[in-house]
Amino acid sequence: MKALILAGGAGTRLRPITHTRAKQLVPVANKPILFYGIEAMVAAGITDIGVIVGDTRDEVMAALADGSAFGATITYIPQDAPLGLAHCVLIAHEFLGDDDFVMFLGDNLLEQDLAAFVAAFQDARSGDAPPAAQILLKQVPDPHRFGIATLDASGNVVALVEKPADPPSDLALVGVYLFTPRVHDAVAAIRPSPRGELEITDAIQWLIDEGDRVRCELLTGWWIDTGKLTPLLEANRLLLERIETTIDGDVDESSTIDGRVHVAEGASVVNSVIRGPVAIGAGARIVDSFIGPFSAIGNRCVVERSEVEHSVVMDDSSIVDIARLEDSLIGSNAVVSRSRQKPRALRLMVGDHCQIDVE
Ligand code: DAU
Repeated sequence: MKALILAGGAGTRLRPITHTRAKQLVPVANKPILFYGIEAMVAAGITDIGVIVGDTRDEVMAALADGSAFGATITYIPQDAPLGLAHCVLIAHEFLGDDDFVMFLGDNLLEQDLAAFVAAFQDARSGDAPPAAQILLKQVPDPHRFGIATLDASGNVVALVEKPADPPSDLALVGVYLFTPRVHDAVAAIRPSPRGELEITDAIQWLIDEGDRVRCELLTGWWIDTGKLTPLLEANRLLLERIETTIDGDVDESSTIDGRVHVAEGASVVNSVIRGPVAIGAGARIVDSFIGPFSAIGNRCVVERSEVEHSVVMDDSSIVDIARLEDSLIGSNAVVSRSRQKPRALRLMVGDHCQIDVE
């Protein structure tokens, strides 16, 4: 079994951050989103991984390299334009060959590990009515934002539609799909949708219409499509819930660490209060500050005389003299500072290399 991870596309909904970086490399709990997907594949025993890359290929390739750091072997498959999820399968045919594979959307995060999902497919493949594909579904409150499935009374998938204005159900397609080589016939047969993309929902519908069996499973744990600010902060919160206290950096005697906090190597906490769950990156300096629950402070960041809560601050940024920063996403190498203290909370989404001076 191989894996195909999609890390191309355009991240319009996380601008300005995604003007300068791949949306799949935005960190949650101080680790790029994409790394969680790669780790989930390796944990499920899948190490031969193809990664679709687009305009941000240099950055993605620099971050994942040959995959050996994850215990995987990575083959990069360049996509010239984001022409759809089924287009990714089309251009990956040579890499995938005649193997079954997992397709994973690089901006999705799942609580559940994938091993059971893969094992269920392999079991079904050796059973009486072997499926050509398997999809994962989750009930959502906003079905118009996703691919949506309709099931019959016996729980079989009978129809799929991409982001319907009038959703036939609330069962969204999660970004994890299992395919047999039969999907190559489907992606070759379908035509672009009205939005100009080769839709994977159309390819799966083609399989159903051709009489192939499509299995589905319902996801029990949480699932987040991180493409926007609120879900990204939510993913950061859920992943920080899992961290254990590890203090590898220096915490001085006038500081207080409360709850589960990870202070990475070379980080220093001086005269500050850290109330977990919080992750402080390597080499960061927290001075005369309060870092509140669900904050991830990136590597080499400086936070001075400030309060930060429920926020992601990416590597090499500074937050100085900010009375309170909350529900915010701050890019890397950004500076947020103010000349005079005012007791007002800021909610910001700041791109990489920005400087924000609050008067
Ligand atoms: O997150 C689940 C949803 O993902 C499903 O419910 C939908 O059926 C599915 O179409 C997809 O919708 P999105 O609008 O969220 O897809 P997005 O354009 O964000 O692309 C998903 C990932 O695939 C993202 O990491 C970018 C990458 N991608 C996307 C396209 C269209 C590529 O690498 N190449 C592409 O051509």
